Parts: sequence; C-alpha cells; structure tokens
Amino acid sequence: MIELKQRVFSGVQPTGNLHLGNYLGAIARFAELQNSHECIYCVVDLHAITVWQDPASLAHNTREVTAAYIAAGINPQDHIIFNQSQVAEHAELAWMFNCTARIGWLNRMTQFKEKAGKNRENASVGLYAYPNLMAADILVYRATHVPVGEDQKQHLELSRDIAQKFNNDFSEQIADLGYNDGFFPLPEPLITGPATRVMSLRDGSKKMSKSDPSDLSRINLTDDADTIAKKIRKAKTDPEPLPSETDGLKGRPEAENLVGIFAALSGASADEVLRTHGGAQFSSFKQDLVNLAVEKMGPIGAEMQKLMDDTAHIDAILGDGAARAREIAAPVYAEVKKIAGLIA
Ligand code: TYM
Repeated sequence: MIELKQRVFSGVQPTGNLHLGNYLGAIARFAELQNSHECIYCVVDLHAITVWQDPASLAHNTREVTAAYIAAGINPQDHIIFNQSQVAEHAELAWMFNCTARIGWLNRMTQFKEKAGKNRENASVGLYAYPNLMAADILVYRATHVPVGEDQKQHLELSRDIAQKFNNDFSEQIADLGYNDGFFPLPEPLITGPATRVMSLRDGSKKMSKSDPSDLSRINLTDDADTIAKKIRKAKTDPEPLPSETDGLKGRPEAENLVGIFAALSGASADEVLRTHGGAQFSSFKQDLVNLAVEKMGPIGAEMQKLMDDTAHIDAILGDGAARAREIAAPVYAEVKKIAGLIA
C-alpha cells in the first residue's frame, strides 16, 4: 500500500498591498508549521492574472511576497518557496480539474460573485475557474494541510469535492495502481488563531483587503512606524471602554477587531487581552497596540526592504524552490495521466 505523508501547501497572490490580515491569518501561520511539517509556500502569480496586472508590478509584487515569506521566518532551504508559473504542472492539473469540477459547484463560489460584481459577463474565464487552479495547486503535491484565512474556506471545501470526485471517477484505475485510499488526499484547511478574519480599520463589517481604495483601512507590511501609528490612531472605534470579557465584544465589530489583532500580535487569546485591558479607554489601548504593532511588524517590513534590494537573490530562491517543487509535482501529474488514460 502506498502511504500518504503529511504535507502543507499554501499560497498568496502577488497583487500588491500585502497587509496585516495576510500576515496574521496566513503568513505567520505558515512560519509556525515549519517545525512540524514539510511545507511548500507558493506565490500564486497565475491566480493574480485572473484580473489584469501590470507586468512590471506583477514581477515586483511576486518578489515582495517572496520577501514577506522570508522576513516572516520561513526557511527556503528546509522548505520550498517558489512562484506558481515556474511549475507547469499546476496549470496542467487545473485543466484536468476543469473537467472534474461541475459548473454548479463554481456557481456557488461567493468570492467570484464578489470579485466579478455586477458585470459578470465581463469577468475573465480564469477568474471563474480560479478555484479549480487552487485545487490543482494543493493536489499536485498531494498536500494534506492548508493554512489559510477564513475567506478561503469555501475554496478549500471545493478542493475536497474535486479530490473526492476524481478519486471516485477513476476508482478502478487508482486501485489498480496500488492506492488503497484514493489517489488524492482530501486536504484539510487549517484556519486557526485569533486573527483568521482581520477586518478593515475603517469599517468593522468589511474584511481588511488589498483592494480597498482607502489605504487607512489596512496596515501594509511595508508601512513604517509612523504610518502604522497613524493608521491605528485613526482606526474606527466606539465610545465605550473595552469590556473585561469577550462576551462584551458582541455587536462591537471594531473593538472586536482591534482586540483580535492585539491578541494575534502578542500571542495571547482575546480573553487574556481583555483580562489585562478590560475597562481601558480606546485612547490608551490604541497606544499599547501601536507599540506592539511597531515592535512586531517593524522588523518584518525592514527585512522585506533589505531583501528587495537584491532581486537576483530573491529570483535565485524562487528558481531553486521551483526546481524542487517540480520534482514532487511531475511524478504526481505523470500518475494522473496514467490514471486518466492520457498516453505520456
Ligand atoms: P490571498 O492572496 O487573497 O490571501 C492570502 C492569504 O491571506 C488570508 N487573508 C486574510 N486572513 C485574515 N484576515 C484577512 N483580512 C485576510 N485577507 C486575506 C487569505 O485567507 C489567504 O490565506 N486563493 C488564495 C491564494 C491561493 C491559495 C492556493 C491558498 C491560491 N492557491 C492554494 C491556499 C492553497 C488567495 O487569493 O489568497
């Protein structure tokens, strides 16, 4: 019997404005998993181009996400960091999955509805088929665990449906090749910690997002200390002091968001944060949050800046990572071809 080993895969789109939500919900979690798992972290440039990207900005942003991974402490020697377009098997398996996934499944994807907006007829075909490529990203490594923020949950469920349908559609061929438990694992989402959904600093009902037109809505990983301080001081709040227990945050989305950010940055739970800060006015809590955010995020921004000064070094890391990623992906895709009857 061929055993599956535990493997982590995740990705971030190089679409600019990397922010605190990306860091706390995803990249910081990526770094934590290094000690317990074999990890593959991808800069998903093929996903980015589902919406038009200026080519020079795309290259810059690809290097910037790479720099963020490294500045967050991910070790590119022990694990793999690479950009998606260098490993052709992602796109090849995505085509296979275009033929596995059903139109009805994709029609339910809320992210497509949000991104395409009212003008759906004018969205790219790639934006619609995006979740199939995402399933291919994960499954071309037969990855078992996927750390993501809350907003990717539905896409992960679709990846599981695709893996399951592929396993069922070809169950006989898969068993003949010696896989007793299906060919693809059903990848598990890892949505953990107090900041799986960081909200906009200007509107506690909207998630913090790269595409929000207001720069004050997010803390960018490249923001300097003064900018971080200004954005936190201007963050929307309500007039009440902080409650002493998390129950008291109900109906107070802005307060809940700042407490969640504080908790994630300090490595405490929201309950612990409120135990020490309950009863505080926002003016003093915000000052503590400024100090904490500058202490934690400042060095990451500075390290990213330093790494971005040497693009040849970043490109070498991506090239090396891609070569190692291909070594895993190529035999998996070769097996998929065998399973499906595509002559190699
Ligand atoms: P992307 O580039 O939009 O976001 C990267 C990661 O950041 C998380 N995130 C957040 N977490 C908490 N609060 C927020 N406000 C917030 N905003 C974003 C996202 O959940 C994500 O984990 N489709 C993916 C990229 C992708 C991928 C994959 C992920 C492509 N292929 C395969 C995992 C596995 C995306 O657009 O992420």
